[in-house]
Amino acid sequence: MGIYAFPIHYVLELWQFLNLNSFNLRCRHYFTLEALHLGIHKSNIILSDRVQAIKPSATLVITARAKALKAEGKPIIGLGAGEPDFDTPEHIKNAAIKAINDGFTKYTAVGGTPELKQAICDKFKRDNSLTYTPDQVLVSSGGKQSFYNLCQAFLNDGDEVIIPAPYWVSYPDIVILAGGQPVILSTGIEQGFKISPAQLKAAITDKTRLVVLNTPSNPTGVAYTHADLKAIGEVLIEYPDILIASDDMYEHIVWADEPFCTIAEVCPELYAQTLTMNGVSKAYSMTGWRIGYAAAPAVLIAAMTKIQSQSTSNPCSISQAATLEALNGDQSCIQIMLKAFKERHDYVVAAVNAIPAMQALPSQGAFYTFVDMQTIIEQTEGINNDVELADYILSKAEVALVPGSAFGAPGYMRISFATSMENLQEAMQRLERLFI
Ligand SMILES: Cc1ncc(COP(=O)(O)O)c(C=O)c1O
Repeated sequence: MGIYAFPIHYVLELWQFLNLNSFNLRCRHYFTLEALHLGIHKSNIILSDRVQAIKPSATLVITARAKALKAEGKPIIGLGAGEPDFDTPEHIKNAAIKAINDGFTKYTAVGGTPELKQAICDKFKRDNSLTYTPDQVLVSSGGKQSFYNLCQAFLNDGDEVIIPAPYWVSYPDIVILAGGQPVILSTGIEQGFKISPAQLKAAITDKTRLVVLNTPSNPTGVAYTHADLKAIGEVLIEYPDILIASDDMYEHIVWADEPFCTIAEVCPELYAQTLTMNGVSKAYSMTGWRIGYAAAPAVLIAAMTKIQSQSTSNPCSISQAATLEALNGDQSCIQIMLKAFKERHDYVVAAVNAIPAMQALPSQGAFYTFVDMQTIIEQTEGINNDVELADYILSKAEVALVPGSAFGAPGYMRISFATSMENLQEAMQRLERLFI
């Protein structure tokens, strides 16, 4: 049994995704995690260096673990999820049902149907004042695949990619899979989890090829303002060979006074060196439908489309029909979800800050709060870091949180409020009982 009476494979999974399980990396998989699960202790399968260089998505591991413990009957409250708890809106589901009944169930063009590409161009014009033509757009099986296609199409071995931390868990590993070298720019709560222009400039070398921006951010919920993006843009305009990947996945989940903005809109001079990514997973509660999209200069989109043509081909035809309705149809569903997320944000941030040793910043969007747990770590006997603390909280309070290390920010913990207010209240009371 693992510490706190949790199964050994859970502790191993936590170690593995944080790359602490060095024995797993070094032993060329004669003794793999999977083998441990199956009780088989020896196999001749030697995995690629490529796959051994990356770790499984931490958020998916935690979510799966919380679900498994729940299935065992434990009253776990999962605050690890990266997906809205709302159902996909009815009119979107109906569009998919209609697509099935109409026989729209065959391959489509690799990069998406012409109708959907046009709807995406219209969306960029309407929401972001960005002009793209359909040959500048690629529809993929989720935003994750958009970024994967980009890295495969754009990076060579050793190319540096600047990633501000805390970051979305998948950026570094997708970069590594493409042979790139992540260059992490750390930001803490004291600088509002945002990189400064000076910090960015200092990180640029002659190997820098890509800079990733994500606003509002997963995991912090912090959004860059117009002025912030302008200042960052002023640095990047000096480097026309550097591409900017702007991940706008949470564009519609923003409650700040200032409306959402994206860098190509704020700095039109950067249009030709920017790839703007977005998707329907979060805004329309469509995580399972797997549709993301990207827009950029046509030459880059053509290369990304080539990668996709040799991996997954087109995104699901039915999901494309649903996405067409999501983008062109009634948008009021967004407001309903936004209102709930804002209420939950206000509650969670206040509840966290009511625990003296925990600190959270009010954020501008997404559905996460990123909590400074350093004092709790120092005060809790036998706990040395955020990974151990996450395990401790899961065992003592039966609340599942994702440790900050997974996002490149040790000492923090991500709370997802993509769950009911009732669950949040119960979870916060449990944390209060544990830490006050
Ligand atoms: C910042 C960010 N970008 C991209 C994605 C990918 O979303 P999906 O692949 O579900 O479209 C996520 C999902 O968690 C995310 O948080």
